[in-house]
Amino acid sequence: MSGFTEKVEKELLSYLPESDNENIKKLIESMQYSLMAGGKRVRPMLVLEFAKLCGGSEEAAMPFACALEMVHTYSLIHDDLPCMDNDDLRRGKPTNHKVYGEATALLAGSGLLTLAFETVLSEKSVRLNGAEKCAAAARALAQYAGADGMLGGQMIDLESEGKTVTVEHLKVMDNKKTGALMAAACSLGCISAGAAKEQLAAAVSYAENIGLAFQIIDDILDITSTTEELGKPVGSDDENKKSTYAALLGLDRCRELSRELTEKAAAALDVFENDTSVLKNFAYYLLERQN
Ligand code: IPE
Ligand code: IPE
Ligand code: MG
Ligand code: MG
Ligand code: MG
Repeated sequence: MSGFTEKVEKELLSYLPESDNENIKKLIESMQYSLMAGGKRVRPMLVLEFAKLCGGSEEAAMPFACALEMVHTYSLIHDDLPCMDNDDLRRGKPTNHKVYGEATALLAGSGLLTLAFETVLSEKSVRLNGAEKCAAAARALAQYAGADGMLGGQMIDLESEGKTVTVEHLKVMDNKKTGALMAAACSLGCISAGAAKEQLAAAVSYAENIGLAFQIIDDILDITSTTEELGKPVGSDDENKKSTYAALLGLDRCRELSRELTEKAAAALDVFENDTSVLKNFAYYLLERQN
């Protein structure tokens, strides 16, 4: 999609609130700092591509795409806090709490989470999608981001530190902490386009498979990459005694597994009559990514 990143980033900026109050300005600045620090923008891409695949418009799906990136960025700010993974670098820059302090980082993350729902339900979004689709999108986003979704996965991640766990346990953890927001992204694209139930189910299956592959690759890169290439500290998982696929199964098996999952994701798209090559290629791009 040409100019995709620029388009998404311009729209993201447009949703940030303004204030004359110096203290509130600092909070908004800290939200903007993490939101505009770069990143691959994987989740907005999924929203827009699924909307397109199901016959929807990019314009209508854009508020949903931005909301996904806001929730994702919030999850990263909190994930990096000293009480969680205690990391100092994110997207090639000092983490939010390193620049603004822990308390402001906590508020910035919460601010982005709330802003995401304001965005899904904004006047623009309701005008373009209709109230019913906005309600469905907000409901799906809340469920996928919530205690039985991303947050639940983060809780399992913390509780699994320093323990020997089963592959099945890791699958549940990764499906939730990473797969859930991928599923939210694909679902919101479908919702904006008014997709049929079986299309939505296929989108979720694609998302679950690329989501699990994505986290397995993230764990591999934490071992094999460099901090410079990743823009975040390598060796963080080992330092925190994280339970990961890579630690349990080794790098070779993890590479095989992530390829199998990517193939499954691509196959899940076979129910669509329209051209799915962009999304299939995207799954393979994520498999081969170096950061
Ligand atoms: C990092 O996500 C967190 C995980 C779910 C592994 P991304 O790798 O998509 O991070 P950005 O958005 O590109 O920084
Ligand atoms: C985080 O997983 C997933 C989130 C929900 C943020 P990681 O802790 O492995 O993500 P990174 O490696 O810090 O990006
Ligand atoms: Mg983590
Ligand atoms: Mg982390
Ligand atoms: Mg990681």
